[in-house]
Amino acid sequence: MNILVTGGNGQLGMSLRKIHNEFPQYNFYFTDIPEMDITDVGNINNFIAINKIDIIINCAAYTAVDKAESEAEIARNINSRGPEVLAKVSAANNIKLIHISTDYVFNGETCHPIKETDRPDPHSVYGNTKLAGEEAIRNSGCDATIIRTAWLYSEFGNNFVKTMLRLAKEKDNISVVYDQVGSPTYATDLAKAIMTIITKGFSSFNLYHFTDEGAVSWYDFTKTIYSLSGINNVKVNAIESWQYPTAATRPSYSVLAKDKIKKLGAEVPYWQDSLKACLEIINRN
Ligand SMILES: NC(=O)c1ccc[n+]([C@@H]2O[C@H](COP(=O)([O-])OP(=O)(O)OC[C@H]3O[C@@H](n4cnc5c(N)ncnc54)[C@H](OP(=O)(O)O)[C@@H]3O)[C@@H](O)[C@H]2O)c1
Repeated sequence: MNILVTGGNGQLGMSLRKIHNEFPQYNFYFTDIPEMDITDVGNINNFIAINKIDIIINCAAYTAVDKAESEAEIARNINSRGPEVLAKVSAANNIKLIHISTDYVFNGETCHPIKETDRPDPHSVYGNTKLAGEEAIRNSGCDATIIRTAWLYSEFGNNFVKTMLRLAKEKDNISVVYDQVGSPTYATDLAKAIMTIITKGFSSFNLYHFTDEGAVSWYDFTKTIYSLSGINNVKVNAIESWQYPTAATRPSYSVLAKDKIKKLGAEVPYWQDSLKACLEIINRN
């Protein structure tokens, strides 16, 4: 079976590259914008015809949440139109599509883990464009699996963990919000969950929530990053969201319920165990 990975240079794409040798039964094609712009239908059609693609894993996205507020058209083209193009091509060619979405499709105003059946209500441009991408896939009728995830980090690219480690070298005092709670998710764990879905088989349409296990505020996440890295010379102040204004509104509670994907057999590691594993790689380099 031939698998096309789009957005292959991003955090999730790189994490799939990292583990793909564990699945020798599949032939992977990793691409990013230069080889495969997901909004370019002609390019996609050529590629899938030449390489006889059976499965597409769409890791491509516009992920600059705050910048999206002022670049709505660019975000919409990549996060809404891109998935629509992939879904239509998949439907026409009998390809199975795995697509990644986000906790930002919810308003984050609940205080219980959010289920796949809960009603989306995005409050940001990014969340709106990601939800429109989900809807386009659903409406296309293709065999698709959508996985909503949250708070992704990895040893690759830019993310919260790497930003906090950099700030520890530059400052002796930082302030981090403690009134936004979620589940940090190691991109390698998500990559493994994707491969579980592929190896366990697909149904016609499915929607799953996947993050690592547990819930924590950004403040506590930062404190844990520092304590696991042996950093004790930075004072971390707990602040409220209004004290750190951002262009995009962020959900205050975005813990996703994972019962459905657990029933499928996906492993959901505790967030601190995965953070430890990732920090060992980052701090070694
Ligand atoms: N990061 C998070 O905290 C988070 C949380 C929840 C959900 N998600 C979702 O998880 C998925 C993976 O996120 P990630 O953190 O791995 O994202 P990422 O690191 O930003 O990677 C996205 C990749 O897609 C590429 N890309 C952008 N536009 C493209 C296009 N038109 N065609 C092909 N590739 C394109 C990007 O290239 P450039 O870098 O050159 O633009 C980048 O290499 C995304 O769907 C994201 O929405 C992420």
